[in-house]
Parts: sequence; C-alpha cells; structure tokens
Amino acid sequence: MNTEEARLLSPQVNSLESKSEQSLRPKKLSEFIGQKPVVSNIEVMIHSALKRSSALDHVLLSGPPGLGKTSLAYVIAHNLGSNIHCISGPALEKKGDLAALLTNLSARDILFIDEIHRMPIAIEEILYSAMEDYRIDIVIGQGASSRTMSINLEPFTLIAATTRPGMLSNPLRDRFIAHLHFDFYEERDLKIILKHNAIKVGIALDDDALDMMAKCSRGTPRIANRLLRRVRDFSIYNDRNAICLEDVNETLLMLQIDQAGLDRMDRKILNVILDYYGGGPVGIEALCATLSEDRETIEDVYEPYLLKEGYLIRTPRGRECSTRGREHILRLQN
Ligand SMILES: Nc1ncnc2c1ncn2[C@@H]1O[C@H](COP(=O)(O)OP(=O)(O)OP(=O)(O)O)[C@@H](O)[C@H]1O
Ligand SMILES: [Mg+2]
Repeated sequence: MNTEEARLLSPQVNSLESKSEQSLRPKKLSEFIGQKPVVSNIEVMIHSALKRSSALDHVLLSGPPGLGKTSLAYVIAHNLGSNIHCISGPALEKKGDLAALLTNLSARDILFIDEIHRMPIAIEEILYSAMEDYRIDIVIGQGASSRTMSINLEPFTLIAATTRPGMLSNPLRDRFIAHLHFDFYEERDLKIILKHNAIKVGIALDDDALDMMAKCSRGTPRIANRLLRRVRDFSIYNDRNAICLEDVNETLLMLQIDQAGLDRMDRKILNVILDYYGGGPVGIEALCATLSEDRETIEDVYEPYLLKEGYLIRTPRGRECSTRGREHILRLQN
C-alpha cells in the first residue's frame, strides 16, 4: 500500500489526525447525519432511558471502519448527559484491567469498548454478569484456598463497537439489547457532512466539486473528511477562493483514485482475480497471498465497499469479479 492510500483508506487513525477528527465529530444526535435506522433506534432508547431514569440498555455498534461508530458513542453520552469511559479491546490484557474499569463506573456512566472483537476471550467472561446483573465475580487466591468475591456495580451501559460482529462469541453478543449495524452513507448524506466540515475548516466549495468528492468517498465520512483536507491543500496551493472541480480532479489523480472512487488496491484486487484466477472464484487466503496483504485489511477495509457496489461477488467457493468489475477495469484500460 503506498503512503497516499494509507492515509486515505487505512482504518488506523494517527494521533495528529485523531485530534482533527475529533474537531469534525458531530457533538449531538441532531448533528449526526444519515444512518437513519441506527439514529431512530438510539433516539427511542435514549428517550426511554431518560424517562425511566435508568441506564441505557447495552448497545453493540457494528460496521466498516470510519462510518461513525465511535462518534455515535460520544453523541449518545452527550445526549444522555452521561460520562463516557473509553478503552480499546486489545488494550485489556488482564481480567483485573476490566474489573478496575467496571468498579470505577458511576450510575448511568457509559463504558465504550472499541474493537471488542479483539478483546481476549478470558476477559470477556467478566462482562457476562456485569452486563446482566451489574455484578462481577473475582477469584481471590489460588488452589484450594481460593475463594470467589462478588462485587456489585452501579447500573451502567456498555457500548461496544466492532468491524467484525461475527467474531463475537454468542454469549457476549446475546447480552447486547440492541445490535445496530452501520451501512455505507448515501452520496446526499456525504454532501451534507462535507458542506458542514468545509465551513468548519474554513473553505468554500463549488457544487460540482462537492458532488465529485461525495461520489469518490466510498460512502465513508472519514474518507470524505480526509479527502476534503487534501483537496483544500490543493485549492490553497492553486490560489483559489473556493474549491473547484479541477482541484478535486487533480487531487484524485495524485491519490490514484478513479472516477468511481476506487483506489489502486481496489483495482489491484479486481485485476488479480481477473488475470491470475480467470475472474474467480478464488479463496481469500490465495487472494491475499497474491496481493501480499493481510486478510483483515482486505476483508475489513477493501472488500465491503467492492461488494456493496457490486464489483466483487462473494460465493461459497471464494471471491469473483462481477461483470461490473470486469467492465470497470476494461474501461480504464481503453
Ligand atoms: N454521521 C456522521 N455525521 C458527521 N460526521 C461523521 C458521521 N459519522 C462519522 N463522521 C466523521 O467521520 C469520522 C470517523 O468516524 P468514527 O471515528 O466515529 O468512525 P468509526 O466507525 O468509529 O471508525 P473505526 O471502525 O475505524 O473506529 C469522524 O471523526 C467524523 O468526523
Ligand atoms: Mg472508532
């Protein structure tokens, strides 16, 4: 993956960018654009929790990277007027880490666990009784002299985010009262987000430039925001008062993103299936080996959008390049 792609598509957010991401994050539910089914569910749940003066039910948020799972967790905390404590699944190494977090929660606090599918399975068990009964059982000592101590917790809400809900164990998944899935954004929603954020970063946008940016952002607000910053740099470099279509096209060319919003790796995936495997089907392991990419990156970052847009088909025998994918590659070659 070259560095430009890494910046636009990589799910990882570096610390510098994380600060700028935070500045563009929606603060309250009314500022959260799109994802209507998710937002409607959350609205009802928040309203009910406030009216019952109880903790919000546990929520599992799933979907591809950059669609707003973390943002929504913060928005929920804001609308409830609750404190939010954040931790990433892989950062929890020992049962004691999670026990310490849980026992420090006040009534109606939110515990947000990001990438919950990467939390060690041994730690997961603590969550079962914590979620169900607001209680944890800790074993003290070892061998014959060991005993179990129960600690009661304040009623809290667990909000967990995952790009891979299928990797969660059934007992854990079943303890979430709501499982809300994020889909890729419609272009019209991305336009609203881009318009808001252009104002926040202090640059004007021509309408056709806006249309093209929304079209090439892979239905993902994080990518739209990254693209906006890159195009803004180009526009300033070109000494313009507002971002125009030419700035967007120049930026896309530099980033090797085509007019359908596909980047070099997307095209490479389709090309490899066509050239090496006669259009497929090809097993994911063989495909990743040929691409020299790890499976998680292909499955989490690239594949969901290619599948959603119908460039790629997933069959029990492996991945196939669709007619649309074939036509797209042929068009680019001519
Ligand atoms: N609905 C939305 N309205 C406005 N901006 C949004 C929305 N969703 C996401 N964004 C923007 O996209 C950025 C990325 O969103 P966020 O970090 O919440 O995604 P995520 O789903 O948690 O990704 P990951 O799986 O990588 O953790 C945010 O900083 C925010 O600027
Ligand atoms: Mg996140």
